[in-house]
Amino acid sequence: MPWLSKLYRQFGKPEGVLGHLAGWIMASRPSNRERIRWTVELLDLRPDDRVLEIGYGPGLSITFAASKMTSGKVTGIDHSALMHAQASARNAALIRAGRAELRHGGLELLPALPGPFDKVFAVNVFQFIPGRQEALASIRQIMQPDGLLGITYMPRGANAAPGDAGRFAALLSEQMAEAGFRAIRTEKLDLKPMPAVCVLGRV
Ligand SMILES: C[S@@+](CC[C@H](N)C(=O)[O-])C[C@H]1O[C@@H](n2cnc3c(N)ncnc32)[C@H](O)[C@@H]1O
Repeated sequence: MPWLSKLYRQFGKPEGVLGHLAGWIMASRPSNRERIRWTVELLDLRPDDRVLEIGYGPGLSITFAASKMTSGKVTGIDHSALMHAQASARNAALIRAGRAELRHGGLELLPALPGPFDKVFAVNVFQFIPGRQEALASIRQIMQPDGLLGITYMPRGANAAPGDAGRFAALLSEQMAEAGFRAIRTEKLDLKPMPAVCVLGRV
């Protein structure tokens, strides 16, 4: 179905009417919410952590991460203007209080962000990033020594298969090791219709 593949493509950079639909799906699907919660729990956030999310989408994860912190702050980047608007509206009170800061833009923003960060995470974003090795190296540069990176992936789309998650995790683990991360481990969550994996590593 051509419209379905058009919709799937939206998840890489939601815009227009289909982008609104993609944003609504991301914010409402129980499996999406669960994988976000799980990822944030794996980061073991401390009240004063400085946290960065790459690709916040509709911004539920920003709300959830901020709820784990008191004096800390969560910063986010997303290259979709539509997602920036949705996530900013959803987190308006946190932004006003200085507990969240959402920027519109891609990985080119990384060096100018208010780091260094204790924790960095991304949920279903890295499959859209072509120069992954370069991205991982840039992320590492803006993290604290011993900082924790967590990257979650849950296969989606018409051709998704359960084995995709494990293959993604194996490749990403190698790429993280090459970028200088250590203590790399993979956690798995048995979600429906596909399992999710989170690859974690320390600076
Ligand atoms: C599938 S959505 C996931 C959103 C959210 N993390 C979630 O799990 O609900 C992917 C998001 O990452 C953003 N994104 C993809 N590549 C990006 C990049 N290179 N820089 C910034 N944002 C990116 C997209 O605009 C989109 O909002």
